[in-house]
Amino acid sequence: MYAAILGYGTIGSGVAAVLEENAAIIAAKAGMPVEAKYVLDIREFPGDPVEKKLVRDIRVILEDPEIEVVVETMGGLEPAHTFVKSALEAGKSVVTSNKELVAKYGAQLIALAAEKNINFFFEASVGGGIPVIRPMIQCLTADDILEIEGILNGTTNYMLTRMKKEGIPYDEVLKDAQEKGYAERNPAADVEGFDACRKIAILTSLACGRQVDFEDISTTGITGITSEDVAYAAAMQRDIKLIASSKKTEKGLFAKVSPVMIPADHPLYMVSDVFNAVKVTGNMLGDVMFYGKGAGKYPTASAVVSDVIEAVKNKGRNIRIAWNPDKLQLADPAEFESRFFLRVKGTKDDFGKVQELFADAQLVSDQIAEGEIGCLVGPVSYGEFTGKTQKLPGFLSCMFVKD
Ligand code: HSE
Repeated sequence: MYAAILGYGTIGSGVAAVLEENAAIIAAKAGMPVEAKYVLDIREFPGDPVEKKLVRDIRVILEDPEIEVVVETMGGLEPAHTFVKSALEAGKSVVTSNKELVAKYGAQLIALAAEKNINFFFEASVGGGIPVIRPMIQCLTADDILEIEGILNGTTNYMLTRMKKEGIPYDEVLKDAQEKGYAERNPAADVEGFDACRKIAILTSLACGRQVDFEDISTTGITGITSEDVAYAAAMQRDIKLIASSKKTEKGLFAKVSPVMIPADHPLYMVSDVFNAVKVTGNMLGDVMFYGKGAGKYPTASAVVSDVIEAVKNKGRNIRIAWNPDKLQLADPAEFESRFFLRVKGTKDDFGKVQELFADAQLVSDQIAEGEIGCLVGPVSYGEFTGKTQKLPGFLSCMFVKD
């Protein structure tokens, strides 16, 4: 079976390497040898064995009847979307690691693949090397999925871990994550939470079988987190993690990405460095958790190649993926109930002002930063909380707190 790889960057070159190095194992699992016949890229790679396979024109791939699977590892929406759509229209199954593409066009591309009786697979688009998409599509299908909670961005988890354990400054640790191939081309996608937002949009769409637009998901990244926040969290026996979550409630489906102070007995507490984890709660199953390397060349390439093998095994048969293009309206974030941590200017004598607004307020510490106090309040709806903090003199910042 011949495949073509679109984009010879970190993941694309990883896919070529995995196909080469694990050729015998892959042939045994797929039932036939799988070879990358072409690699599409506009760049030159002098001295790299890929040179002989390089093509610049997508038509070479689309018009070659020997190519049965197209692997898209270019990233970004265009030209990836046009190329993927053309490949499916040409009757070739497509495998992608591109979460932007899947979050935006997943439902349409799934429908196109079904119409053509081929496959569109995207295991590597969420959680890097962790098998989570295929379990969602094939294993957790008997359940009503009630909640998903995940650490879905390796770069930020790596940064938060090293900042906490080694006290390394933000810029230095970001540079290190980029050098290790974890970060996006524009790392704002990682640190502002946009990457995790697309991933929770994909998982939630698969969980509810309808389109959840990532633009509707309230998203906050890690750029505002300070060492004082980390110290306050520690004083509350908690750790700060960038959590992407969605939850079915009587008020509708809530989805958000934000830093959350989570307690030491929470299953995501121990997930550190580049590791990701996704906890899925089903109404019959209860909790199940997936854990592994969420970013990096080889873990992600491994997930891509597993999809290629799946496409080979299912030649001539479309694997149904229930993701309807009908948009699901998310619940109003103002109605989301949580406990909150807040920092307020002043001394412990000013704690009374917090108590006037929040009767259940607890003083966390007046010792962590000069001239301020940290308090814990709630549970309260986000709308009520923000309304009250606007009236609170000296209010500095806040964060979600999980029990
Ligand atoms: N930049 C992403 C991350 C890569 O750090 O998780 C994997 O999607």
